[in-house]
Amino acid sequence: MSELRTDRLVLREWREADLGPWAGMNADPEVREYFPGLLTREQSEASAARFQADLDRRGWGWWALEVRATGEFIGFTGLDPVEEGMPFTGVEAGWRLARAAWGHGYATEAAQAVVAFGFEELGLAEVLAVTAAANLRSQAVMRRIGMTRDPADDFEDPGVPDGPLRRSVLFRLGARPAAR
Ligand SMILES: CC(C)(COP(=O)(O)OP(=O)(O)OC[C@H]1O[C@@H](n2cnc3c(N)ncnc32)[C@H](O)[C@@H]1OP(=O)(O)O)[C@@H](O)C(=O)NCCC(=O)NCCS
Repeated sequence: MSELRTDRLVLREWREADLGPWAGMNADPEVREYFPGLLTREQSEASAARFQADLDRRGWGWWALEVRATGEFIGFTGLDPVEEGMPFTGVEAGWRLARAAWGHGYATEAAQAVVAFGFEELGLAEVLAVTAAANLRSQAVMRRIGMTRDPADDFEDPGVPDGPLRRSVLFRLGARPAAR
């Protein structure tokens, strides 16, 4: 079974019971502020099914995120190959949490676990992360786990419709800390 554990969290497979809260957070304008639009219940369910299919097929991907102390589902964190059509290739880390779960350090804790998995279990030389240039909260997670941004890597995300959300940033973390 594909599962990662941290002090406070478990990154696990998706369950039927996740679908309600997952759809709820994808219909929350605050959670979707830096994405092009809200998701319908059907779109949310389809995405959870895709995420689970990836976990079944290769044993890693966008894991469902649960708070160990309460059993509460709070979103996802994981790793995925960068989508085709982007101006770079590699494996990216990503996270999306329900609004009520922000401000506890959960995204950073889960991100550290998936990055360690990428280096130690997948043997990656580098993990990437991508977000809208305006999404400073997500970039703060990237910085907290030691990722760095070269402004020369900034790009227009071809998967995002024309508009201010298209401007995107790329963060990188190498498997070994850079020499100081
Ligand atoms: C991006 C996102 C996951 C960041 O969530 P977050 O809660 O800000 O990030 P963390 O989980 O790392 O929590 C950090 C905050 O928790 C606080 N915190 C509280 N207890 C903590 C603890 N025990 N350990 C660490 N941090 C703690 C930190 O001080 C920090 O607070 P601050 O934001 O006021 O500085 C969240 O905003 C989100 O889901 N956004 C919508 C989806 C999205 O944009 N995803 C990224 C797309 S690429």
